[in-house]
Amino acid sequence: MSIGYYISVFVHIVCGAFWIGGMLFLPLIILPGIKGHPDRINILYKTGIKFRFYGWVALSILLITGLLNIYLRGLPFTWIFFEKTNYGNLVIYKFFIFISIIIISAIHDFFIGDKAIEAMQKNLNPKLKYIARWSGRINLLLALIMAFLGVIISRGGNL
Ligand code: HEM
Repeated sequence: MSIGYYISVFVHIVCGAFWIGGMLFLPLIILPGIKGHPDRINILYKTGIKFRFYGWVALSILLITGLLNIYLRGLPFTWIFFEKTNYGNLVIYKFFIFISIIIISAIHDFFIGDKAIEAMQKNLNPKLKYIARWSGRINLLLALIMAFLGVIISRGGNL
């Protein structure tokens, strides 16, 4: 395997770890850690906005390195390859789950997130907070499935 391939998989793993780690850090560390803090909602908003930016950077790099992983392994980008091989099938599953992650992230980050924070500040409409919370949890679950599929693909894709 070329050094380029190793670097691509390395960057892919680091971005996956960053994104999954961030989605675990918020509910497990930040939220309990700032419980009862007078400026809690503002801290949540500020950290959410920061993670949103780097999260989208990580997702973009994951897509680029995901495709590079295939190319640098010397595998063909043909429909026959994706349709007829286990490796190819798993990449297709990953791609569609990734599209779902992008859609849920966009709704969470650009439509629900801000409104939920606003509603929390005014103690209104708790439903928004739950939609924000559950869309985040669904994305975390999908990201863990992506990582698991990735581990299988990297080892040849044979289940
Ligand atoms: C949330 C997004 C993603 C996460 C968390 C993720 C995670 C991972 C992980 C943990 C591995 C295993 C690395 C190893 O064991 O060596 C991997 C491998 C891989 N991923 Fe992803 N991935 C994501 C998105 C994508 C996307 C969008 C694609 C392409 C369309 C992709 C294609 C691949 C490929 C082809 C491999 C195998 C690399 C090889 O040939 O060894 N991934 N991924």
